[in-house]
Amino acid sequence: MSDTDTPINANFKPRVFSGIQPSGGLTLGNYLGALKRFAMKQDEGIETIYCLVDLHAVTVWQDPEALRRQTREAAAAFIASGVDPQRSILFNQSQVGAHAELAWLLNCVARLGWMNRMTQFKDKAGKNAEKASLGLYAYPALMAADILLYHATMVPVGEDQKQHVELTRDIAAKFNHDFGVEFFPAPEPLIEGTATRVMSLRDGTKKMSKSDPSDASRINLTDDADTIAKKIRKATTDPAELPSEIDGLKDRPEARNLVNIYAALADMTPAQVLGEYGGKGFGTFKPALAELAVEKLAPISTEMGRLMADPAEIDAVLGQGANKADAIARPIVERTYEIMGMVRSR
Ligand code: TYM
Repeated sequence: MSDTDTPINANFKPRVFSGIQPSGGLTLGNYLGALKRFAMKQDEGIETIYCLVDLHAVTVWQDPEALRRQTREAAAAFIASGVDPQRSILFNQSQVGAHAELAWLLNCVARLGWMNRMTQFKDKAGKNAEKASLGLYAYPALMAADILLYHATMVPVGEDQKQHVELTRDIAAKFNHDFGVEFFPAPEPLIEGTATRVMSLRDGTKKMSKSDPSDASRINLTDDADTIAKKIRKATTDPAELPSEIDGLKDRPEARNLVNIYAALADMTPAQVLGEYGGKGFGTFKPALAELAVEKLAPISTEMGRLMADPAEIDAVLGQGANKADAIARPIVERTYEIMGMVRSR
C-alpha cells in the first residue's frame, strides 16, 4: 500500500451510534437508559445514528412474525420518544449488509480470550453454554462492527453494555495496530444520568428486563395508564420512610430504584427527590411516582399505537434510514477490505 492510500484519520468527527434489540417489548429501562438519551443527543445537534439490531436479536430464536412486529414497534418507540427520522438516521441492521460483512472481518481480529470474558454471554447462555448459538458467542464482535462501521465516537448505553463498548475499543485498537493504520476510532461509552441501571420492580437487585418472566417486574412502553399505576403501586418496597440523604438509600435497593426512576423521569437529581420526599412513606411517594410515570409514559404509548396503525409508513422510514446508513457504511467496509488486503475490482 502506498503512503497516500494509508487511511490516517485521527480526527474523527463527533458521531453518536447506538442500538436496541427488537427481541421483545421495550421497557422503562430501555426508555430511561437509552431512548430518552438518544433523543437528547439528537437535540444537542450531534450526528446521531440509531439501529434496531435484528441480527443481534436472532442470536436466540425469534418467532419470525413476532420479530417483524417487534421491529416496527421498536421503531415506533424511538419516534414516540423523540427520535426524529429527519434529524437522526433510524434503521434496522439487517437492511444494511455492511454490518454482517464488517462483523466477519472483526471476528478475525477479536480474540477468543476476550470473548470468553463477556459477562452478558455467560448470563444469557446460562449453564448450558454448549447449546448456545455461535452467533450469541460472536455477538459482541457484531456490536463492535455496528459502532465502528460509522466511525462512531460516542455510544450512549445503559451500564450493562459498558463491557461491550470497551471490547469495541480493544478490537479497534488491535485492528489499527495489526495493519499499521489509524482507521477506527476508540468510541466512548456514554453512561449518563440517574437511570443507567433501572432495576426490576419486584427485586431491586435484578435489572429490569424485557426477558423477565414476570410482567409485574417491568413497565412496558406499551402499558396503558392504569397498568403503569398498578405496577408502581405493587412494586416491592421496604416499610421504612424515605431518607433525607442519599446515604440512607445504600442498603435499600428497591427504594433507591424508585427514587432513581423518579429523578430520571422528572429530570431531577436523586438528592432533589429526597429533598421533597425525605421523611415521607411509600404511601405518599408511590402515588406521586405513578402520576409522574403516567404523565411521561402514557403519551409515548399512545403515539406508538398511532404509528403502529400504519406499518407501511414505519417500513418506509426504516428503508430511508437504511439508505442513509448504507451511504456512510459502504465506503468504510470497502476501505476495511482494502486495508486487509482483499482485491476490490468491481
Ligand atoms: P438491549 O437491547 O438489551 O438494550 C438497549 C439499551 O437499553 C439499555 N437498557 C437499560 N438501561 C437502564 N436500565 C435497564 N434496566 C436497561 N435495560 C436495557 C441498554 O444498556 C442498551 O443501551 N447489545 C445491545 C444492543 C446493541 C448496541 C449496539 C448498543 C447492538 N449493537 C451498538 C450500542 C451500540 C443490547 O442488547 O441492548
